Amino acid sequence: MTGRSARCRRSAVLVSVLAAALALTGLTPQGRAPSAARAAAGTAAAAPYQDPSLPVTARVDDLLSRMALDDKLGQMTQVEREALQPQSALATYRIGSVLSGGDGTVSPNNARTWADTYDAYQRIALGTPLGIPMVYGIDAVHGVGAVRGATLFPHNIGLGATRNPALVERVGRAVAEEVSGTGIDWNFAPCLCVARNDRWGRTYESFGETPGIPASMTTYITGLQGERLGAGPASVLATAKHFIGDGGTSGGTDQGDTRLTEAELRAVHLPPFAEAVRRGVGSVMLSYSRWNGAKLHGHRHLVTDLLKGELGFTGFVVSDWAAVDQLDGQPGFTAEEVRTAVNAGVDMVMVPHDYRTFLSLLRTEVTSGRIPLARVDDANRRILTKKFELGLFEKPYADRALTGTVGSAGHRALARQAVRESQVLLKNEGGVLPLDTSAKLFVAGKSADDIGNLSGGWTLGWQGGSGDVAPGTTVLEGIRAAVADPARVTYDRHGHGVDGSYTAAVAVVGETPYAEMHGDRPGAMGLDEEDLATLARLKSAGVPLVVVLVSGRPLDIAAQLPDWDALLAAWLPGTEADGVSDVLFGDHAPSGRLPVSWMTGAAQQPVNDGDGKTPLFPYGYGLGYGTQPPPPAPAPTPAPAPEGCTADYEVTGSWTGGFQAEVTVHNASSGPMDGWAVTWDPAGRAVTSLWNGSLAVGGDRATVRNAAWNGALAPGATASFGFTADGAPPPSPSASCAAS
Ligand code: BGC
Ligand code: BGC
Repeated sequence: MTGRSARCRRSAVLVSVLAAALALTGLTPQGRAPSAARAAAGTAAAAPYQDPSLPVTARVDDLLSRMALDDKLGQMTQVEREALQPQSALATYRIGSVLSGGDGTVSPNNARTWADTYDAYQRIALGTPLGIPMVYGIDAVHGVGAVRGATLFPHNIGLGATRNPALVERVGRAVAEEVSGTGIDWNFAPCLCVARNDRWGRTYESFGETPGIPASMTTYITGLQGERLGAGPASVLATAKHFIGDGGTSGGTDQGDTRLTEAELRAVHLPPFAEAVRRGVGSVMLSYSRWNGAKLHGHRHLVTDLLKGELGFTGFVVSDWAAVDQLDGQPGFTAEEVRTAVNAGVDMVMVPHDYRTFLSLLRTEVTSGRIPLARVDDANRRILTKKFELGLFEKPYADRALTGTVGSAGHRALARQAVRESQVLLKNEGGVLPLDTSAKLFVAGKSADDIGNLSGGWTLGWQGGSGDVAPGTTVLEGIRAAVADPARVTYDRHGHGVDGSYTAAVAVVGETPYAEMHGDRPGAMGLDEEDLATLARLKSAGVPLVVVLVSGRPLDIAAQLPDWDALLAAWLPGTEADGVSDVLFGDHAPSGRLPVSWMTGAAQQPVNDGDGKTPLFPYGYGLGYGTQPPPPAPAPTPAPAPEGCTADYEVTGSWTGGFQAEVTVHNASSGPMDGWAVTWDPAGRAVTSLWNGSLAVGGDRATVRNAAWNGALAPGATASFGFTADGAPPPSPSASCAAS
């Protein structure tokens, strides 16, 4: 079938659906809507905006010219589906977007009901006079966790440990297919947060503590959206969140205050967003947090000047859940909150409940001129552009061909691969790992056979929950499947019954699920009483003790570590935890590396790469089997070098068409340095983003000079910068460094 006839067929389907939807909602088309009546009569596509052969800009212009103010205000409004009472309020208020919050669900909860539900709301949206489709958003932050039966992948911190951006792109693709199978077109992911304090309850949503890891993992966005939005099936609008500094708050307090100079904010928290914009991310969600006391949701400089202006972001900005309503710290919308947010650059407001009040305030602010109409038009242009690019006008309904991919064997195999690659081996005394498949094993711990604990937050509910919440494979099940004789595996959650007859005991312990502020740990960060008791029982048997830590972040385990023979950081693996047992038995040698520094104790927080503190396990640490890298040692004191500084160039990740590198600058002289410059031959690879320095390219040399704040280096001190570049990683070039 030619492209043209395919288009005709789709619009014919659209036409009859429109007619049916109009009849259903009882809405009558208004005069300024050219399409509905003629469309219902089955005549040719009525208006330019409905013509997919026209460029998107022309379609947006045409549509905007037909929209009344209320249509435009509705496009800027996003409502939690369950708050739309009656459902027809979607049409009455011309609501442009619907979401399911962390606790939003359908009954019975399966992919098909989700798709039916999506279609029902879309039908209502298409029944409005202009027939503008809604866009439906959800938090598929580790797979489409709201849907029972979905594949749940490791949370971001585990994906960061893989250091494998190509794998993460494939994960994004699989998530896009599962999301699309429910009809949903928009994912509030990935979180590009740079978690700087592990007390933060969202640390597990971060790919890592340095800007480089989240920047390299923006491949996830390409996975979700495809090479460009709407190109091919299962193109899901991605969201880079939460702009900016969400992971940098003082004390790691969720929704807190990030106190940094602008240079520091840009160096640590901006690079992942710059990379996301370069990859064409369609939406950006703002952070609840403040920057030096000022809320991001009212921050025109950061949202409009920096994100939209300087970075050139052309997608739309969505607010976080009720964040606009929270601007003044009081419950209930005020005109000032609405005005402040929209004028700062918020294009769509995640209301999520009281849309009537929100819309009436927005209307008053616009008609009074306090919000310029040009701002409303700009917001609409951004939102509608993405709707057209997604192909929503042509294919507004769930693609049922993808519904069967939800929880498919192929996706589960990919998730298992991601779990394997995310495991970080931190200790392996006497080579107790890998385990032999003929070993007699005692397995214990509250997370060994608990898919809920293994999956963490955003799993069948905002906070997730312990227990058999989702279909999947637990660590215990993985172990039983791996051994030669399952009868040689004994399990008791609390470790009762263990004795000296076992080859080894495996304890799977750690955190129970949480999300957002509920996961903040301002006090102790250690294991709970149950885990400590279980570990003590296993220890008393006198057999080698292997600890698998299931947690969203490093925990304070220094005091117990000497009792353990092996420690495997499993993060939050999700539904395919046989990826953990694959590593325990050596089917996959551990290859993960710490995406965050591992504290010596809670009091050491925050502890991050390059801050001069000595963690228990440094950022980047991870053992393999066989020839093990030496244990972490303090950096040797270098002999003073006449040239003053040295530069170590390291490729830290690569993916199709790009790579990431980090360069460590070291003041190897005996005196202080005021500034530095590093040069190397980029061998034709164009640098696409750079952090912690400024770049100049000339001839066959790339030169990076220090940023304002990291030039001064005491003798022996180091600074580092990083970048992403196009092309395949070069054989590590030798970089030369000069004091300046
Ligand atoms: C919602 C979540 C949301 C949270 C914010 C919950 O009730 O389900 O989606 O993130 O509230 O407070
Ligand atoms: C979270 C966001 C999420 C939103 C919608 C908020 O509470 O901060 O990350 O996308 O709720 O569920």
